[in-house]
Amino acid sequence: MNEVRVRFATMDDLATCGRLDKQWPKSSLAGKIAVQEYILAEDDGDPVGCLRLEHIWGKIPYIGLIWLEPAYRGQGNGRAILGFLETSLRERGHRVLLSSSQANEATPQAWHRAVGFRECGIIAGINEGGIGEVFFRKDL
Ligand SMILES: CC(C)(COP(=O)(O)OP(=O)(O)OC[C@H]1O[C@@H](n2cnc3c(N)ncnc32)[C@H](O)[C@@H]1OP(=O)(O)O)[C@@H](O)C(=O)NCCC(=O)NCCS
Repeated sequence: MNEVRVRFATMDDLATCGRLDKQWPKSSLAGKIAVQEYILAEDDGDPVGCLRLEHIWGKIPYIGLIWLEPAYRGQGNGRAILGFLETSLRERGHRVLLSSSQANEATPQAWHRAVGFRECGIIAGINEGGIGEVFFRKDL
């Protein structure tokens, strides 16, 4: 069982966040860390997962990325990262959380449903290769 510690990233984690999250522009990583939009999962100090928070229209929280090293999946760690995020969002007054998954990826979709998300729409063809994106919402 590989249980992890979950916490917000700090400026000391800039390089780690850049390494774990290849999609986000390096130039604006520091800004996101400063407003607590990066969460790290660690095992004995080693980073093993991350979550990047974004906001739709600048106000509705949206999970842009949630990712764990393969050896740390399927043991409740994704649920733990989500729980940490949800607690902090509730404290900030948010009542709903959005997320999404590629339409052709059944496993992450099943994970979203298992942890309490409900499907709320699809953007057809938005990904490379014309693949759609399924959106999920969870009341906090
Ligand atoms: C998605 C991801 C973050 C989930 O984290 P995880 O640690 O593997 O998930 P957990 O162990 O916390 O699972 C939580 C619950 O979801 C359930 N679940 C997970 N995958 C499932 C699946 N494919 N089908 C049904 N239920 C599933 C688990 O059974 C568990 O339920 P329980 O707590 O009632 O036993 C992780 O698997 C991952 O990094 N995957 C690769 C990246 C990815 O796909 N990211 C999402 C892109 S949208």
